[in-house]
Amino acid sequence: MRLGILGSGSGSNMQAILDGVADGSIPATIALVMTENPQGYILERARKAGIPTALIDCRGFKSKFPEEAQAETAAALKEAGVDVVCLAGFMRLVKKPLLEAFPDRILNIHPALLPAFPGLQAWRQALEAGVKETGCTVHYVDGGMDTGPVILQGKVPVLEGDTPESLHERILEAEHRIYPEAIRIVARKLAVPAPGM
Ligand code: GRF
Repeated sequence: MRLGILGSGSGSNMQAILDGVADGSIPATIALVMTENPQGYILERARKAGIPTALIDCRGFKSKFPEEAQAETAAALKEAGVDVVCLAGFMRLVKKPLLEAFPDRILNIHPALLPAFPGLQAWRQALEAGVKETGCTVHYVDGGMDTGPVILQGKVPVLEGDTPESLHERILEAEHRIYPEAIRIVARKLAVPAPGM
């Protein structure tokens, strides 16, 4: 299974996936890493591992992912022979044509137990809501914001005296555990021959 990874920032989730591929615990290869952020450390992590990278041209939009950029991204991923796309700290909403190019094949990780706390800074939302437990979710992307069928969740306690930073750090550690496991689940699903084969 060939993975394409899209990320906008530090790429710590991409690193966790990369480490899993390197130690053989994730039955996949990373074919391409893409970002719209030329300063994103995710690029450095990929380059250090000798993984091809490509920049996404969002035409100057700060947060929008314009349709032509989605089409170019889909084409680059297809060109690289990608089977499954992993959004890893990717801050733009994926829609057509990417969804059409990779139906039920785009994963995302969100730092909360969806459907709770969708959107930005989910760890801060959880803290402000006073919940005693939160976590992270890997789900299929269906074009909504942090919606789509859940693949795997990891729970994380909210501790006395937690700050947004301390809670986010604990959630991030859980992310780095469940994303590789979620990819293993998807790889097993995709490896199952279609009925009657
Ligand atoms: C983090 O806030 C993480 O919780 C979320 O995306 C952001 C960046 O993660 N999933 P990464 O270090 O770029 O993977």
